[in-house]
Amino acid sequence: MSAGRAVGKAYLVASVAGVFFFAMSVGLLGVWPRRIIDAQTAAMSPAHPLGLSDSARRGRAIYGREGCAYCHTQQIRYLHTDMTRFGAPTLAWETRFDYPHLWGTRRIGPDLSRTADTRSADWHFAHLFAPRSIVARSVMPSYQALFDGAPDRPRQEARDLLAYLESLGRARELAGPEGEAHAREACNCADDEMLQMAFDGPVNAHPAKTRRSGEVPALPESVDRTRGQELYGDHCASCHGPTGAGDGPGAASLRPRPGNLAEHEYSDRRLAEALWHGVAGTAMPAWRDYPLTDLAALTARVRALAAPREEPALPTHLTDIGARVYAANCAQCHGVDGDGRGSAADALPMAPTNFHTQRPTLDHSLRILRNGVDGTPMAPWNGRLGVDEMLAVAHYVRAFFEEGSR
Ligand code: HEC
Ligand code: HEC
Ligand code: HEC
Repeated sequence: MSAGRAVGKAYLVASVAGVFFFAMSVGLLGVWPRRIIDAQTAAMSPAHPLGLSDSARRGRAIYGREGCAYCHTQQIRYLHTDMTRFGAPTLAWETRFDYPHLWGTRRIGPDLSRTADTRSADWHFAHLFAPRSIVARSVMPSYQALFDGAPDRPRQEARDLLAYLESLGRARELAGPEGEAHAREACNCADDEMLQMAFDGPVNAHPAKTRRSGEVPALPESVDRTRGQELYGDHCASCHGPTGAGDGPGAASLRPRPGNLAEHEYSDRRLAEALWHGVAGTAMPAWRDYPLTDLAALTARVRALAAPREEPALPTHLTDIGARVYAANCAQCHGVDGDGRGSAADALPMAPTNFHTQRPTLDHSLRILRNGVDGTPMAPWNGRLGVDEMLAVAHYVRAFFEEGSR
């Protein structure tokens, strides 16, 4: 064979091989996975898109216009770190009807795919208006142009944006157990752990969504006080204030206002519960995504905010009045024996205080009775109860506290 023919043949072999490998990679990397995804999508997707309200649709355009997608993704990957922090991984069908996609490419802020119901409206407004008033070290820009000068005066644009944020993850959540069953079947998850991670437990929703009840793990006994102070400064002082008085920079527009941690005694259970579940119906987020050692450090920090004090005793001639006033006016919400489980409790947007696990100071208790708690069903009693009656019942609710449940 002459040298020229050999070279010519080598070209031929190389071109044929090149074309073959090209076709093979298109097949393996493009066509084949797409078939799998199409089959999955066909099996799992609801027939019709959930559809956005007009407001949410306008909000979506604002989300695009303001460049939220430059910092926030809307795609949760099949990675342990993604799933524990943001929830169930994004399935192909979820964004099938979502065009143009707002998946994003960089995560400077957290993923927002499962934002629905994780934060209260007042939290979102205060945060959009001035992110650092709520999250001390946030680098998110503020969007004051969407407001009339204050976080509690949102313009229609801010409301639209909120409606859009509240739609994120809802379709997946509504797909419910049936959707889960299909997803499991169609899931191409190679290892069992992935399958479990993706589809077991409180799936669909954001892992740190606030809850009103449920199991709370026991927190470790030993605590790191320095860590507690650091965490409090970074995550809590923005709302509860540096001394726990509930007067942080983010507090002003929140309804109800952040609790006054300095004027309470809390049982261990109450603190663990408030941190693990958040306080549903308020801006208090859940902190379940933090390690238990951090939560323990935080409970110690919160406890240290309240200085022990001597409280005056109830004047003896008022002893019977407290019980009577309580049974007549308070038991339907706060429960006959003060555990917060009155007959009307479940219908309220937030849980009435359980006085067994949290004891307000006498001052605080009286102040609440006179003024009520703005933004909650706890109405003011000034005018409806006499001065003695208020004093008596303010003492009365304090007596439910169980030292033992600490
Ligand atoms: C420069 C990057 C950047 C841009 C642009 C941005 N964000 Fe953020 N965002 C962040 C960071 C960082 C955080 C985490 C700290 C915090 O909560 O403020 C965050 C947090 C959030 C959160 C809270 C999420 C959670 O689970 O705690 C929401 C909701 C949010 N952003 C919505 C928006 C919206 C809506 C827009 C557009 C109007 C937007 N962001 C634009 C960086 C950004
Ligand atoms: C976005 C503002 C905000 C942040 C940040 C925040 N809280 Fe709260 N917190 C609230 C609100 C609002 C309530 C509800 C008050 C009520 O029920 O009246 C609350 C309630 C609580 C309660 C229950 C108190 C009670 O009297 O019912 C505890 C305990 C608590 N927060 C601790 C913390 C700790 C610790 C942190 C930091 C990890 C923190 N909070 C971060 C706003 C916030
Ligand atoms: C309609 C239901 C309802 C009735 C009736 C009601 N409360 Fe409340 N109360 C609540 C709710 C809900 C809260 C929780 C507010 C919060 O977490 O900020 C609350 C909070 C309180 C607090 C503040 C607790 C704290 O630790 O900050 C006190 C004190 C209190 N109630 C006493 C009473 C007394 C005494 C009566 C009867 C005279 C009464 N309440 C009647 C629903 C009710």
